[in-house]
Amino acid sequence: MLDIRSILAVKRDGGRLSDAQIREFLAGYVAGDVPDYFASALLMAIFVHGMAEDELVTWTQTMLNSGRVMRFASLGRRTVDKHSTGGIGDKVSIPLAPAVAACGLAVPMISGRGLGHTGGTLDKLEAIPGFRTQLSAEEFERCLERTGVALGGQTPDLVPADRKLYALRDVTGLIESIPLIASSIMSKKLAEGLDALVLDVKFGSGAFMVAEERGATLAGTMLKLAHSMGVKATAFHTNMERPLGRTAGHTLEIEESFDCLEGRGPADLRELVCLQGGEMLRLGGVAATLDDGRARIARALDNGSAREVFWNVIVEQGGDPRCLDERGRLAKATQRTELRAERGGVLAWRDLRAVGHAICALGGGRVKLGDQLDLAVGLVFPRSEGEHLAAGDVVIELRHNGRGLEEALALLRRSFELVDAHTPRPLVLATY
Ligand code: URA
Repeated sequence: MLDIRSILAVKRDGGRLSDAQIREFLAGYVAGDVPDYFASALLMAIFVHGMAEDELVTWTQTMLNSGRVMRFASLGRRTVDKHSTGGIGDKVSIPLAPAVAACGLAVPMISGRGLGHTGGTLDKLEAIPGFRTQLSAEEFERCLERTGVALGGQTPDLVPADRKLYALRDVTGLIESIPLIASSIMSKKLAEGLDALVLDVKFGSGAFMVAEERGATLAGTMLKLAHSMGVKATAFHTNMERPLGRTAGHTLEIEESFDCLEGRGPADLRELVCLQGGEMLRLGGVAATLDDGRARIARALDNGSAREVFWNVIVEQGGDPRCLDERGRLAKATQRTELRAERGGVLAWRDLRAVGHAICALGGGRVKLGDQLDLAVGLVFPRSEGEHLAAGDVVIELRHNGRGLEEALALLRRSFELVDAHTPRPLVLATY
């Protein structure tokens, strides 16, 4: 018999839930036998008191097993994936997955949609005409077998416990808890049946978790969960004090991803693709060292093999691959507005969240799930952090369709400063 009150009392008083209590609670919640008001009280107690290490392992494993767990035993390739906590202009997954597949591993990638100030990989992919991200289990597996990559969204049968708990945390203000975030992310990633996982935890004003120390704790917690379940994992702590690459916004990021797949594009994007892809190859046993892995990924970008894999993925997922060659096939915004420097000085980003909100104001982001997006709008950043600008130089170019322009400009004006001196911080702060 489920004694929910005694489970709540344990956590309310800062105690440790037994494995049986965790299983009983989560099974009851997913089945609809435990009402939301009990679940939100338990989440609040976890938010306040945290969880012991082994308690969190059981909690995460139970969430993971609340639905279908993918297995790709007959694939003949090891499976690896990457998860990023996200940020402005973070399109790494799009060139990374085909590059890793071109080097011999399989990447079954389940991604999310954008919410708040950051964009989502699924929405970006849908800027490719016809590209379908809602794949059935059979379609996902077929795409993975044929191309080495599958790029899909969460289905109702994958980690239903997270689906319910995340929605409840969202409406009760209980997102920002390290054990709850770590279990939510890792239960979904580990349900992909992975051999290895690379985590990209961002810090800075454009990151989900702004403070460096909290990012480091989150990375450590997620790594322990991966290792406790026998999955090899590495975490990189990377910079989101400035946008990644030169663009933010769905179509613009797809174009920049195409550039990267052709051995071109911004250096910081290529650097993260090579670093994280190289580590995926090392963890997956294809490269002997990280340097070897990086070199292989760089070759796959330069010799067209990563691009060819992505071409095949687009075909397999119902999209029009001709847009790789003919960029005019992508939806374009009708108007351009330039935001210029009012004085000379060195470019320092101050508030990247405002940059994300500016894209939302133009219609390119969601305030709530289900909002329709304008995939064509976005921002171009022609100048780098730390670069000296003269008065009148363009700092940000807005690509838009007329909607929300004044609000976006107001947000963008406070997102940066032109200062006398500013030294940008490194792209990669630490590796765990
Ligand atoms: N992303 C997730 O998937 N879960 C969280 O709790 C936070 C970010």
